[in-house]
Amino acid sequence: MEKMRIDRYFSSQEICSRREIKEALRKGLVMVNGTVIKQADFKINPESDEILLSGKRIGFEPYVYYMLNKPQGVVSATEDKKQKTVLDLIPPELYRSDLFPAGRLDKDTTGFVLLTNDGDFAHRILAPKSHIEKTYHVGVIHEITQADIDTFAQGITLKSGEHCLPAKLRKLSDGNDGLTICEVIICEGKYHQIKKMFEARENKVVTLRRVRMGKLWLDETLPEGGCRPLNKDECVLIADLDRV
Ligand code: URA
Repeated sequence: MEKMRIDRYFSSQEICSRREIKEALRKGLVMVNGTVIKQADFKINPESDEILLSGKRIGFEPYVYYMLNKPQGVVSATEDKKQKTVLDLIPPELYRSDLFPAGRLDKDTTGFVLLTNDGDFAHRILAPKSHIEKTYHVGVIHEITQADIDTFAQGITLKSGEHCLPAKLRKLSDGNDGLTICEVIICEGKYHQIKKMFEARENKVVTLRRVRMGKLWLDETLPEGGCRPLNKDECVLIADLDRV
């Protein structure tokens, strides 16, 4: 990696503003490889230099990956004039302006959204040929039948005439309000796919929650609306996500 000015590095990583870094440099709060640095144009290598701000190590993280437990009523977009977006749920200390959701959920769908600033990665996992499995928990109004299971397994044809790849369907439980709760595993991401798959079987989706993307499961301890960076184990799994 090329060397860069320390003030540019701090602002590009959104660690602090150019004005704040100037202040920190002036106060002698910045150390590079054990030496106090006071010049804003001091050149650093963010990958190999040890950079401390007020004694705290600053690491270079070109790419970040966050897990979000999306509540209902939030749109999977980076901006919207009227509605709350998934980016509005990111805690200020984790927020970066280059984040976006890798894959969309409908406004009324809840559960696992992966947020990242890694465009290549997102492109790979969202490519139609990537076939990453996604697991959903779905509440539908009618009981599911063996014919539903078989049709999903063969690859259902939607009312629009569009064909879907084989999908797995199984009943999990009888839910509240007379709903049947089932698990559906699909490996593509057509618009409103799960809703349309049940519609093709004259059934109706009332609740929809994504709980898995590839090898990554939604952390059930993450509250609705909660967002956190993937932990080390999950980062290992994410590296494999596009190879599932
Ligand atoms: N299928 C849908 O119908 N909606 C979603 O949000 C995700 C999958």
